[in-house]
Amino acid sequence: MTTSAETVWKERLSTMETSIEAIQLPGKSDDEQLSQNEEWCVVTVEGSRKRIRFHDYASIYEIPGLYEGLFYDRLKCISPFRVSRLLADVVRERGQRPEDLRALDLGAGNGMVGDELHSLGVKTIVGIDIIPQARSAAMRDRKGIYQEYLVADMTDLARDTAQRLVAKELNCLTSVATLGFGDIPPKAFTTALSLISTPGWLAFNIKEDFLYERDDSGFARLVRKLSRLGVIRIEAYRRYRHRLAIDGRPLYYVAMIASKQKQIPLSSIEEADSPRLQ
Ligand SMILES: C[S@@+](CC[C@H](N)C(=O)[O-])C[C@H]1O[C@@H](n2cnc3c(N)ncnc32)[C@H](O)[C@@H]1O
Repeated sequence: MTTSAETVWKERLSTMETSIEAIQLPGKSDDEQLSQNEEWCVVTVEGSRKRIRFHDYASIYEIPGLYEGLFYDRLKCISPFRVSRLLADVVRERGQRPEDLRALDLGAGNGMVGDELHSLGVKTIVGIDIIPQARSAAMRDRKGIYQEYLVADMTDLARDTAQRLVAKELNCLTSVATLGFGDIPPKAFTTALSLISTPGWLAFNIKEDFLYERDDSGFARLVRKLSRLGVIRIEAYRRYRHRLAIDGRPLYYVAMIASKQKQIPLSSIEEADSPRLQ
């Protein structure tokens, strides 16, 4: 890879306006080894300090530049870059062009993945996120990237929303930093995959622990089952450092690119969150 994720996003974000004066991470005395979904920071904006949990996305998106300053600058997150570039590499190797992708970006947040896809030439990008602040932040910070951006819960998608998405003939599902940790469960992920046309593409990442045989999040079983049924074919698998934890430990994720080979049987969607999925 010739360009680093850091160079690319720093250049893009240098034009972004922010009123953040400081972002402080807890020291060792504050909290010994917080787990990933307990992490927090203190942000200072116009003289006032606010403690925000990393999983309080709504509060993070409301402050322009906080998501980028926290996860990308301080904690060196590279996932939107890594997953999108891996997708583009595989697509090109298969003789297709990123320009021909029509992507559904699940858990789109403030648009970091949309930004990457756009820079690769993808013209149709539809975002979906459960919280309205994510949509507002994407519209505020990344105008024109998403052709459409829906506020909806993928675990409980209305039938007419699903039909509208299918009608768009989207041929690629991206979902970055959204799986596990109580965000998007296997059934919602499977539902999103069912909205993508066949043949199609799937690009996502997940913390490596969630892919261990003994893990009970259901994602290891889901990937195995979808592969066994011939619904997806894994085309690329890359372990990499997603970001640093607040104490500097590396957090390893796996980026996966798969091709969608056939539609998912309805029974498999229904079973996706259940332990019966073997
Ligand atoms: C860590 S953020 C990742 C944002 C973006 N993909 C990125 O890589 O920067 C996870 C996002 O998933 C969204 N999310 C969580 N549960 C969801 C659900 N059930 N349906 C849709 N979006 C969801 C959250 O609101 C949040 O914006």
